Amino acid sequence: MTKAQFQVFSSPELVAQAVASHIAEVVRARPQTVLGLATGKTFVSIYEALVRVGEETGLSFAEASSFNLDEYVGLPVGHPASFRRYMEEHFFRHVDLPADRALLPEAGDDAEAACRAYEAAIAARGGVDVQLLGIGRNGHIGFNEPGSAFDGRTQVARLTPSTIAANTSDFPPGELPPPEAITMGIGTILDAHAVVLVATGAAKAEALARAFLAPMDVDCPASALQQHAHVTVFCDEAAFAGMGPRA
Ligand code: F6R
Repeated sequence: MTKAQFQVFSSPELVAQAVASHIAEVVRARPQTVLGLATGKTFVSIYEALVRVGEETGLSFAEASSFNLDEYVGLPVGHPASFRRYMEEHFFRHVDLPADRALLPEAGDDAEAACRAYEAAIAARGGVDVQLLGIGRNGHIGFNEPGSAFDGRTQVARLTPSTIAANTSDFPPGELPPPEAITMGIGTILDAHAVVLVATGAAKAEALARAFLAPMDVDCPASALQQHAHVTVFCDEAAFAGMGPRA
């Protein structure tokens, strides 16, 4: 039985506002917060709302740090579909988070060493306080695809055909996503003090229900979150539809 708390809203816009307000409160209460950040279509409106809340309330990220969940392996610097570019466009360039504390995994010449260094960098900051997560239609979190070990650490992962298909629209016409990415492992994600998972739209309903209603199963990576004591799911009614009638 999951301990996750659900916050259900009538539209994705209201979800974005609620997540943004929550993160703003966390950073206001503890300016040195270590954020775990996600990319993807779901998070575009969330960063937009967070930037707006920040501007309206004078929120500073100057003492915060961030670690993104994942990044493709092998994209040239500045590639339009890289997660670094996404983060610059939607968040980093709009806030005062110092560039040297806004990290994404970078494969470099030695991807395995880069994975170990990323874990060490997170540990050196005292761990992630709040980890933001989206969820794939197949239940993936980060690039931890079905079958990933629940105790996995930051690693090089192979993308499944369904994830490649889902992400192809982010790439220039005729270009496919790289077959590999570096991702925090499920164990890395579970180490965060709190997790905020966001799901919007009917396409996420089945994955959300499998993650939180069905028994934990490596075939649904997000179901690992059932073990975590502090998970809040922010979702719209369409994504919540598979969870049964609301209390
Ligand atoms: C992104 C990430 C992915 C996405 C997931 C949902 O950093 O790690 O797990 O959160 O694929 O993506 P969208 O929001 O595009 O449906």
